Parts: sequence; C-alpha cells; structure tokens
Amino acid sequence: MVDTSFPFYILRCSAFCVYTNILTSCHQKLLNGQSYRNAVINTLLATLYEKSNETEEHSNRMEKHCHSIGRALRLSSKEMAELSLLALLHDIGKVGVHLDILQKPGPLTTKEWEEMKRHPEIGSRIAQATPELSVVADLILAHHERWDGTGYPRGLKGEEIPLACRILAVTDAYDAMTNDRAYRAAKSHEETISELLGNAGTQFDPQITALFINILHVEHETDPYMGLEDIQEVRRDR
Ligand SMILES: [Fe+2]
Repeated sequence: MVDTSFPFYILRCSAFCVYTNILTSCHQKLLNGQSYRNAVINTLLATLYEKSNETEEHSNRMEKHCHSIGRALRLSSKEMAELSLLALLHDIGKVGVHLDILQKPGPLTTKEWEEMKRHPEIGSRIAQATPELSVVADLILAHHERWDGTGYPRGLKGEEIPLACRILAVTDAYDAMTNDRAYRAAKSHEETISELLGNAGTQFDPQITALFINILHVEHETDPYMGLEDIQEVRRDR
C-alpha cells in the first residue's frame, strides 16, 4: 500500500527541503548545545504533527519527563541530548505511514496495524540518512521494545534495550494515559500510576518505573518514596 523505498521518503517528506542545506553541520555541535532543535528537526516535527495525531505539547512533555529521569540517573550531557532527540523524534517514522491509517478514527485492522508497526524502522532510516540525527537511529528503532521481550521490531529483552528507550517507554505510556485521546478520556494520576505498576517488569523496566513514580510523587506532592521492593509488593497484591 505504501511505497517505503528510501527515495520515496526523500521526495515525500517536506523535512528534506532543508536537508541538503545542513549536511555539513557536525552532529557533535548539535549534541553539545541547545541547537539540537534546529531547522531539520523542526521541519520533521511539523510534518509529523500535520500528518498524525501527535502534538507539540506531547513532544514537549515527553522531553520534560525524560529529562527528569535522566537527571536522576546522572546521565552525561551527551546522553541527555540524545534523550531529548529521542523524546522529540521517536515517532518520526509515522511520516512514512499512510494517512488513512494515521488518521483512522476507529481501531486498526491487523494489516493496518502491521503497517503502523513499521514506523520505528522507517524513523531509524530517516535518522540514519541525516548526519545530525544518526546518533539516535538505533534508539528510534528500539523505542517499541518491551522489557519482557514481546516488543517490536526485534524482540529485545531487558537491558538489551537501550536505556533511553526504557526511559521513553515509561514516560510515553504515562503521557498517553494522562491526556485525553479521541477515543477515551484521560485517566487520573492515581489510575495511571496503578497501570504503570501493573506493567513494571513486563512492558517497562521495573527500576526506571520505580524512579519515575518517585519523581511524579515529588512533583505531585503525594506519597513518599516507593522503592523497587514496594513495587514488587504492590504487584503481588494486584
Ligand atoms: Fe512509536
């Protein structure tokens, strides 16, 4: 249904209107400063927001939550910059998914879902072809892997999954649940925490989940510290 050859994306994606003008930029410069949100990234994101249900607000919240976890983990400035790029661009491969699928109001068919599940691979190829973004190509490819190995496209398991992707998985789920979608209303903070707990150790890295919940507790001024043992206890009680 969709032409996924690389030249197709070059021609179809308006992001590449600026692509050839920035090829000589050094990606380390990008990672060292605030210039990572440069023209090519902004254009890629504008295309994504125009085609899909993704929003700038979602990207900004993702970046904020990922940074909170990254700071708690004392990630290096390079790792933090890569985390920012991943938070902003993880779904960029959706620009290569057919509009009828991206904007379908109801549930996807099995065939449509298979097409949608190609977006990590498409996004990774876009990043590989863009010198400033090649550093996150492998991260984009792995952003739908699951801790228990049932994710896609490669079925990576546990710490085989890059740390940045394990951080993104928890924050993406939190943001999706706490904001209204066309097909359902937002869950409460408490309901969302319960969902995260229920999926820690299967969908999510349990230690990253524990850390993020602690950060949220501080931000929301709710419960005190919750450690990994507490999460396992809660899971046993469910
Ligand atoms: Fe995605």
